[in-house]
Amino acid sequence: MSSIQHSLIEEGSLEERIITLGPWFHNLRLGGIQTAPDHFLGDYPLIKYNRFRNVIPADLSGKSVLDIGCNAGFYSLEMKCRGAAYVLGIDTDERYLRQARFAGQVTGLDVEFRRMPVWDVADLGERFDLVIFMGVLYHLRHPLLALDLIHEHVARDLLLFQSMQRGSHEVVMVAGDYDFNARAPFDEPGYPKMHFIEHRYSHDETNWWVPNRACVEAMLRSSGFVIESQPEDEVYLCRWQPVDVPPDGPHCVYPAKAAGKAKDWR
Ligand SMILES: C[S@@+](CC[C@H](N)C(=O)[O-])C[C@H]1O[C@@H](n2cnc3c(N)ncnc32)[C@H](O)[C@@H]1O
Repeated sequence: MSSIQHSLIEEGSLEERIITLGPWFHNLRLGGIQTAPDHFLGDYPLIKYNRFRNVIPADLSGKSVLDIGCNAGFYSLEMKCRGAAYVLGIDTDERYLRQARFAGQVTGLDVEFRRMPVWDVADLGERFDLVIFMGVLYHLRHPLLALDLIHEHVARDLLLFQSMQRGSHEVVMVAGDYDFNARAPFDEPGYPKMHFIEHRYSHDETNWWVPNRACVEAMLRSSGFVIESQPEDEVYLCRWQPVDVPPDGPHCVYPAKAAGKAKDWR
């Protein structure tokens, strides 16, 4: 038993520590104990992960992973289990980060967890082979900016993305341009649309924008992420590509605060 694991047990039983750190959104299995056995979505996020785990490279040896909105670290820890050399999980909520660090200690998996909003990813000053951006987009007041920042500053190759979706599942082929008087396209169910939540959705005041499927796909494309697969309804595996710089200049509006250009994590 490692000294860290030993000290955890000295401060109280594993079960007591798990209860003290709760409530948990991620149902992890720590020392055989489930952290959120009564989750409203079932055995979450394992049931979701089981539907798309096959699209993620099984061997991440030598690769770096950034998990944005890592919560209690389910995906960060899973990526470390796939052999990733460096995994960094970031989140704004210190309560979830405490859970994640605890889970790292109990499992003995070497994952770094840091308090940082997606808005500050430029400060990391490095790019990652795999960026995970699951379940965060609709919690943001400025969702497209987040995708632009990820593209501009931290993604190198793969993006694993998920967003809650509402509205039509249809996807219309958007035209390259529309006449000023063309109003009908916007009423098509499959035209890209975001639903603004002024107050609450599902009793949660942090839900701000819920896109339909066409909108998710258009936002990813527009931010420079090519969709390679959609293993389940809400989940996309994308690949980074350069964005076409519009004639009036690059569209990212939130430059790095730290001086200097991005360094490599190695
Ligand atoms: C619905 S949970 C998703 C957790 C995990 N990524 C998953 O898919 O299971 C959303 C997470 O995003 C975090 N979050 C919300 N706003 C954020 C922001 N601006 N930057 C980074 N994380 C944020 C929340 O604290 C929460 O842990």
